[in-house]
Amino acid sequence: MSALDLIYQRSSCHVHEMEHPAPDNVKLKRILQAVMSAPDHGNIKPWHIVVVDTEHVPAMCESMCNAWLENAAHIEPGRIRRLTSYLKDAPMVVLVSANVVEPHAVSRRDQVLAAAAACQNILLAAEQEEVAAIWYSTDAAELPQVHELFGLTKQQEPVAFIMLGSKKEQIIKKRSDVAKHCYQWLGDKQLAPLFDK
Ligand SMILES: Cc1cc2nc3c(=O)[nH]c(=O)nc-3n(C[C@H](O)[C@H](O)[C@H](O)COP(=O)(O)O)c2cc1C
Repeated sequence: MSALDLIYQRSSCHVHEMEHPAPDNVKLKRILQAVMSAPDHGNIKPWHIVVVDTEHVPAMCESMCNAWLENAAHIEPGRIRRLTSYLKDAPMVVLVSANVVEPHAVSRRDQVLAAAAACQNILLAAEQEEVAAIWYSTDAAELPQVHELFGLTKQQEPVAFIMLGSKKEQIIKKRSDVAKHCYQWLGDKQLAPLFDK
């Protein structure tokens, strides 16, 4: 398969679409090595990766659940419990953070975007390795208790929880045409469709 076909066919697997085992260490290293070829303004390598293996996922979920229950009054407790029990089934959790260097000529935003680019490389490498993967939000890690749980410093800004496991089945998603997102600039404020729709 060409690299482009791999990109076209990449799709996410939700936790309920995954099964055990998680990738072994050899596969995991190959997948995470893809981080090192992510675009990176200033060659800072602002990447910090924490892996939670199968054995530790339930304890991680329990600690996160307790932190949310104690500190996230705006979230309904039933929702917290449902979410954490769902995540408990993840074969592996990878927390990717931007390891922000400040002060620096490269903005914080660019460093966080470099970390996001690294996440996409992880997803593509996982696809190549036939590993199930999905990017989940790190909103939960905004709580200082959750931040600390992962041993993050103030300069480490979570960007993605990436769940990894085995695919229950290969899902091929039909992707829509890019044309409606693309424009050609024709001078001051003038945009025209780039492709026929
Ligand atoms: C920054 C970011 C945060 C995301 N957070 C979640 C999330 O918390 N829950 C979720 O179901 N999907 C989340 N997604 C979307 C999934 O990762 C996935 O892209 C989506 O389910 C569509 O599947 P696809 O990648 O196969 O098109 C997030 C994606 C991004 C880029």
